[in-house]
Amino acid sequence: MNETMDAAVGKPMDRVDGRLKVTGGAKYAAEFPLPNLAHAVMITSTIAKGRVAKMDTSAADAAPGVIKVLTPMNAPRLPNDPSYSPGGASGRPQDRKLSVLQNSAVYYNNEPIGLVIAETLEQAMHAAALVQVEYKEEKPALNMGREKKNAYKPKAANQEPTDTHRGDITSGQRDASRRVEQTYTTPMENHNPMEPHATTAVWDGDDRLTVYDATQGVFGVQNVLSRIFALPKSNVRCVSYFVGGGFGCKGSVWSHIPLAAMAAKSVGRPVKLSLTRAQMFGMVGYRPQTEQDLMVAAKSDGAITASSHASWSNTSTFDEFVEPTAAVTRILYESPAQETSHRLVRLNYGTPTFMRAPGESPGTFAIETAMDELAYSLKMDPVQLRLRNYAEVDPESKKPWSSKSLRECYKVGAEKFGWDKRTPAPRSMTAPDGRLLGMGMASATYPVRRSAASALARLLPDGTAYVQAGTQDLGTGTYTIMTQIAADALGLPVERVRFELGDTEMPETPVSGGSQTAASTGSAVKQAGLAARDQAVQIALADPSSPLHGMSAADLDVKNGMIFVKAQPDKGETYAELIARQKLPKIEAKIQSKPGEEKNQYALHSFGAVFVEVLVDPDLGEIRLNRIVGAYGAGRILNAKTGRSQLIGGVVYGVGMAMMEHTIPDPRTGRIVNRDLGEYHVPVNADIPDIDITFVDEVDTIINPVGAKGIGEIGITGVVAAIGNAVYHATGVRVRDLPITLDKII
Ligand code: MOS
Repeated sequence: MNETMDAAVGKPMDRVDGRLKVTGGAKYAAEFPLPNLAHAVMITSTIAKGRVAKMDTSAADAAPGVIKVLTPMNAPRLPNDPSYSPGGASGRPQDRKLSVLQNSAVYYNNEPIGLVIAETLEQAMHAAALVQVEYKEEKPALNMGREKKNAYKPKAANQEPTDTHRGDITSGQRDASRRVEQTYTTPMENHNPMEPHATTAVWDGDDRLTVYDATQGVFGVQNVLSRIFALPKSNVRCVSYFVGGGFGCKGSVWSHIPLAAMAAKSVGRPVKLSLTRAQMFGMVGYRPQTEQDLMVAAKSDGAITASSHASWSNTSTFDEFVEPTAAVTRILYESPAQETSHRLVRLNYGTPTFMRAPGESPGTFAIETAMDELAYSLKMDPVQLRLRNYAEVDPESKKPWSSKSLRECYKVGAEKFGWDKRTPAPRSMTAPDGRLLGMGMASATYPVRRSAASALARLLPDGTAYVQAGTQDLGTGTYTIMTQIAADALGLPVERVRFELGDTEMPETPVSGGSQTAASTGSAVKQAGLAARDQAVQIALADPSSPLHGMSAADLDVKNGMIFVKAQPDKGETYAELIARQKLPKIEAKIQSKPGEEKNQYALHSFGAVFVEVLVDPDLGEIRLNRIVGAYGAGRILNAKTGRSQLIGGVVYGVGMAMMEHTIPDPRTGRIVNRDLGEYHVPVNADIPDIDITFVDEVDTIINPVGAKGIGEIGITGVVAAIGNAVYHATGVRVRDLPITLDKII
């Protein structure tokens, strides 16, 4: 039987969970009112390096409502302490600081060093403030510039090679008539989803643990907790029905999760632990600072002859995370000679982590700014320069693209934006009100990822279906697109499909990171739906009482829950009729969907083009965005409305990165000084202009069964450079150090 026409996929369907969310019915991790719930508040370090010498908890112990105060001195030993050797010698590159309260060492400021558990949140907060801590302090390493001499080469850069070399740089540079060599720097940035991390932990006896967690990966939480508490995986359940934003910080298991579980066990009650906004700065990851040396050399016709991208970023002293900024430079343009590298510098901050388009965001800032600088140096239009060096195949692997629509993106984007009205010279355009007007552009790109995922589809006697995959919805629209995919696969209207996610009791799926959920879990949901439908069809064909008896599956189709003969659409029967006659409780399929060989044979990427117009006050340097146009080739867009929202959200994230986001540590103590949303700036509505998102039609039958490339992260890429390039066009000032603020251009 062929697949039916898609009736739901692609449509701008409203979010199926929208009503629950706006009416407060959606339950987040800290909102499960378990009986006898106790509240926990973390005590965190105020030094960046050393030891806790003494903790006086007597006042806290005696404070009203306090049930227990846990410290490194009295905390229960973890059954399977995941402790590491400081310095990363554990050989476990992503072992976050999970060895909670197992020793008195302090590795960064704002690190959890104690926990107060009380009857109410207020009592726990009050008691936490009464704990007196004495430290034996050591001098921390907090400055990347100063520690750069000790940089080291990590084994890999987020699953990509650490370094690459192709061609001969020296002869490439000799052939060039122009060369740009610049350093681009980006600061630490912190994820700030509206919902902070939160875990509610409850034990059933000694050996069954359930956590309600704000996470991008329920199975990751299950895995790590089962390891730490030495339990079979099936004894640990993680539930996460709704997540109030993730952006990467919720993709790992951090200290507070085992802490909540430890606390619940030690008081024999359910315990809820939620991070304060200030605690979001440091203990749950951040984007590390980067320093990127770029070189791009080209002939006078714009052909790139050589390029290099050497990148440094910081990691913690006990763990490893690489911001893989140079990965984009490897694939964006033809460059016969190229060298790229990543180095890490250990500092006494918490471990950095994935933050929306890790690598690609700061990386496209660097390479796409350098390309703009090269365009000016060559007196060439920036779009033309990119087209001149258009990569027809992946320039690094030489594999063909599974699909690539970047040329179309430049064209559509430039037309919608009115790029032809731009006069190239800096400061050559002004707005009617006298402000300097600047136009800039950049390329966007993000890899297409997919992992094995499972799903279950069940046709029920009432003619509806129930579909499950244990994935997460970070607010992106997963519930909605999975409902659409399942409905089309089953041949049912969306109203008759109920999709559930967010529970390790459901079929296993990967972390919602790397923009892979639509491709991974979407493929599983589609295949499970098709398998359940095929089963129903086979049952009908074999049933002498069915009007379809003895026909061939190839002659049949399913629509609106009715299996019918294609050539004779009124001949057939409904799923409900079939199930009733057969006296079945259900028809069900559970499948695992795995990537095939496509990754070995093709280069899999999304691409886009971003165009930005800024207005700059010539006296005050105030930068206002006037409009942003983005055109993207990202495979199949599964829902026109949530897809557009995803891209708008990504672009807004890029605006924040370009113009505002900047985590500022105290250089003496490593304490983040702007650890709240009053001082850590992110864009608000008034900062955001009209954002015009276009998806160019892109049919990619290679990447995965749903044809989707994933759109969670590409939206942020390219935006930062496009803004910076527009600011240069407006003012003639090139800002190579983020964020681009007015003090840097006046
Ligand atoms: Mo995203 S930074 O891969 O969760």
